Amino acid sequence: MSGAPYIRVGFLGFGTVGSGAYRMLEDNREAIARKVGAEIEVVRIGVRDEAKKRCASPSLLTTDLGSVVDHREIDVIVEAMGGLDPAGELIERALRRGKHVVTANKELIARRGAELVGLAARQGLDLHYEAAVGGGIPLIQPIKHQLAGNDILRMAGILNGTTNLILSRMTDEGEPLETVLAEAQGKGYAEADPSSDVDGHDVQFKLAILSSVAFGKAVRPEQIYREGIRGIEQADIAYAKTLGYVIKLLGIVEAVEGGSILGRVHPTLLPKAHPLAAVGGVYNALCLRGDFVGDVTFMGRGAGGEATGSAVVGDLIDVCRNMRIGGSGDAAPFSGEANARPIEELTSAYYVRVVVPDRPLVLGAIATIFGRRNVSLSAMEMRVIDTKLNHGEIAFLTHRCLEADLRQAVEELRHAPEVLRVCNWIRVETL
Ligand code: NAP
Ligand code: HSE
Repeated sequence: MSGAPYIRVGFLGFGTVGSGAYRMLEDNREAIARKVGAEIEVVRIGVRDEAKKRCASPSLLTTDLGSVVDHREIDVIVEAMGGLDPAGELIERALRRGKHVVTANKELIARRGAELVGLAARQGLDLHYEAAVGGGIPLIQPIKHQLAGNDILRMAGILNGTTNLILSRMTDEGEPLETVLAEAQGKGYAEADPSSDVDGHDVQFKLAILSSVAFGKAVRPEQIYREGIRGIEQADIAYAKTLGYVIKLLGIVEAVEGGSILGRVHPTLLPKAHPLAAVGGVYNALCLRGDFVGDVTFMGRGAGGEATGSAVVGDLIDVCRNMRIGGSGDAAPFSGEANARPIEELTSAYYVRVVVPDRPLVLGAIATIFGRRNVSLSAMEMRVIDTKLNHGEIAFLTHRCLEADLRQAVEELRHAPEVLRVCNWIRVETL
């Protein structure tokens, strides 16, 4: 687009996400310039190792990240390096220097979003973070804009590509967690420390961000209950299948009475007919319920350079359009802190798997323990697992009950003479 003005951009980080965004800017340069009414020019790229081979000219690279945020001609900073610091310090410095910011950093936004969004708003600048949640799926902007008139009642989603790939392949191919995790790392899906994916921290960060945007109050990650997928065994996957379910790592948040929220991240048994049950591989999806709009489902690739690069570039285009009309489109700071309820107050159905001696009265004793805690059973699968020792395994499904009651029942089962081992217990989502 000859004669069009230039908007100059600096990148902090040029790994999976940074290079994905850069390639999109290069490949779709003309169309993007037409849509923005200006050329987007990347003038500096901050990295750790200048010697690495990249898809951008070596002349753009620097290891001096401060020089990127301080660069006089740069209007917008794209942060795709990850971690709390130096990323946080650099974003703050960029905002104080009057530069708009686009970031993919979910940990930083989950922990310091309220403060940084507030700073951006006071500075009259944009701070966009669409890529931080759900990879290429537009989630933040629709919730912040088109759905903003609704009271959000509930959100439930598959929000981590790595663990969804792992659980899908454990289910479909019987592959072990470690093998699929190595593949996810090779494809650039996993976090720098993959325990963030496997232990549920990544979803906790994403759910904190989504909740803050949806409920308009800052939700800290620690206000969201968290479990990862390390405890899921092939036996759980097999029983779930027999009972008509699949196991997914979900992030779920609900508005509860009195203006509080209850947020949680954990493996979940999903009925096969549930809209999230068929979301496999690296795909993510979010089911949202608003008081006026009703149920809305978003789905798409949740990780990887191209999908996430698309979200970064979308944010960048939005910033550039706002710059062209001289206004910030993002000023939506959170008002105060959310009040969160503990997981013990959850009402849910549950799956419980135990190993027992295969002899009379065992089943009755277990049913009595559940019954004493107001937990009513809805289904059961059993099999002999050791004919020599005469050991059997039973998988129970319960009706909906209070989590505090279920936990007490499980604790009692652990000490009951009729139970050799409580192998696992998992929450069950109903339709
Ligand atoms: P990555 O591939 O490891 O890339 C990180 C980049 O940042 C690299 O270019 C690295 O430089 C640079 N970097 C990191 N620390 C640095 C430091 N202290 N000084 C200078 N440069 C530094 O990571 P990524 O997967 O692109 O993820 C980046 C961010 O996006 C993270 O916050 C992540 O959570 C988020 N995210 C990732 C995805 C995904 O699918 N991967 C999706 C959504 C959001 P070198 O290249 O020289 O090592
Ligand atoms: N590690 C993350 C995932 C990247 O696997 O979903 C996308 O946020």
